[in-house]
Amino acid sequence: GNVHYYDFVLKETNFTRLCSTKSMLTVNDSFPGPVIRVNKGDTVYVNVHNQGQYNVTIHWHGVKQPRNPWSDGPDYITQCPIQPGTNFTQEIIFSTEEGTLWWHAHSDWSRATVHGAIIVSPAAGTTYPFPQPDAEETIVLASWFKGDVPAIIEEALNSGGEPNQSDAFTINGQPGDLYNCATDAESIYRILVDYGRTYLLRIVNAVMNEEIFFGIAHHNLTVVGLDGAYIKPITTDFIMITPGQTMDVLITANQSLSSYYIAANPFFDGETQFNNSTTTAILQYNGNYTPPASPPMPALPRYSDEDSAMNFTASLRSLASEEHPISVPQNITTRMYVTVSVNQLICPERNCSGPNGNRLSASLNNISFVPPPISVLQAYYRNISGIFDKDFPNEPPYYFDFTQPNMPSNLSVPTQGTKAKILNYNEVVEIVFQGTNVLNSAENHPMHLHGFSFYLVGMGVGNFNDQTDPGRYNLVDPPEVNTFGVPKNGWVAIRFTADNPGVWFMHCHLERHSSWGMDAVIIVKNGSTSATSMRPPPAYMPPC
Ligand code: C2O
Ligand code: CU
Repeated sequence: GNVHYYDFVLKETNFTRLCSTKSMLTVNDSFPGPVIRVNKGDTVYVNVHNQGQYNVTIHWHGVKQPRNPWSDGPDYITQCPIQPGTNFTQEIIFSTEEGTLWWHAHSDWSRATVHGAIIVSPAAGTTYPFPQPDAEETIVLASWFKGDVPAIIEEALNSGGEPNQSDAFTINGQPGDLYNCATDAESIYRILVDYGRTYLLRIVNAVMNEEIFFGIAHHNLTVVGLDGAYIKPITTDFIMITPGQTMDVLITANQSLSSYYIAANPFFDGETQFNNSTTTAILQYNGNYTPPASPPMPALPRYSDEDSAMNFTASLRSLASEEHPISVPQNITTRMYVTVSVNQLICPERNCSGPNGNRLSASLNNISFVPPPISVLQAYYRNISGIFDKDFPNEPPYYFDFTQPNMPSNLSVPTQGTKAKILNYNEVVEIVFQGTNVLNSAENHPMHLHGFSFYLVGMGVGNFNDQTDPGRYNLVDPPEVNTFGVPKNGWVAIRFTADNPGVWFMHCHLERHSSWGMDAVIIVKNGSTSATSMRPPPAYMPPC
């Protein structure tokens, strides 16, 4: 593969949206940030210069980084933060990924403004498994907060309550024209198209806390890629995309008006507050078309339409062709059963504005993750004890109907810890994530695993049944993903081979849940040769 070099300069820049101006952390003064373009199998060096005011790290979401956790990026998991006034060069090793991925800050809530797309084109001499599109467009969906994002999460964590919801969603940095104060031509992003041409849209959901329905009026979407892997094409009016996911979508400009709305609004079926607004962009035809009085709007599902969301996600299948074969792990050597809950910690102080005067928290197997003072990777590599525990449980506290209302109170109060699950090299792993109704607050959780993509072999509503559900798994063409929504009051089963030695973060990609502790660490031990072991650390790693 080829080698590419980028400089990412992180600094505060003024942006005006929704009639108010704020200073925010950006990469190279842009929002969304720069696009990284590679071919399959390339290597990229990004020199990250922190010229901002607080600690930050950058993660390459969906890039497996074989044997190279050193550059993966989550703070206190694989590295200490890059401190203001310092820089850190990260080496991003592409292997099997092909399609769209993205990069984002992985410290506090900085990813709200620090993110961008990664485009992995087919290797030289190979082509897409679909007709070559005439052009490509990147579409990054994000959250806009009028306030200072680091202050919002800091305040929420101090108070124990819900963080402020965002004030808008954006498409390529613009909220569109349906918000107050957002009616000028500058506030809406336009995609210019020529009649008769086909476009590949590379869609990234960088939204902080909401899953998203997305569509374009009067235009079919043909989904051909998901999380940097090809899928069997799905033609649909809308997609449902969860935070962390990326999708490749073909559209053909075959309509007769000059402009059509592109729109996105949340899918949210939980109990708590959320942003229920709609962001818009315009699909604009070049040439002499009569402009409509108002561009047609896509008909998107209602925010609470669980059936539409489930039907869409259940239709995703790997392409699994001769050129793009898959190999679904069959002989499982390690099974894990992981409950996924939002819950509460008992507050020592009085100003705890969560439920029952407690602090909101979140957990995996009823353990709420606590970030350590130095990185787990450093502690693991240098054998420093007391930083993390190796006893992340395989089983939840006990097993019963996790979807019933009014779950027992011992499940609503988690323990806290920095827990890792240790896997031998090449272990064949199945994880069942079980959503729960603790605090009567069931909702979807987009679970994400660093260092791997995994096969989503099963998904269902209610409690996972280990007698009957495995018989219904899709072991033929399950989608290969790095993030997937555990449905509200339901479960998903994933499989992967632990062939990537290193320290890898696993967490919910809803930012508030991850901040509350819905996280754990997976450590894959070295194999017996140097080619199956972690690479040595780079000469410089940021110090804590
Ligand atoms: Cu996209 Cu751990 O993150
Ligand atoms: Cu979650």
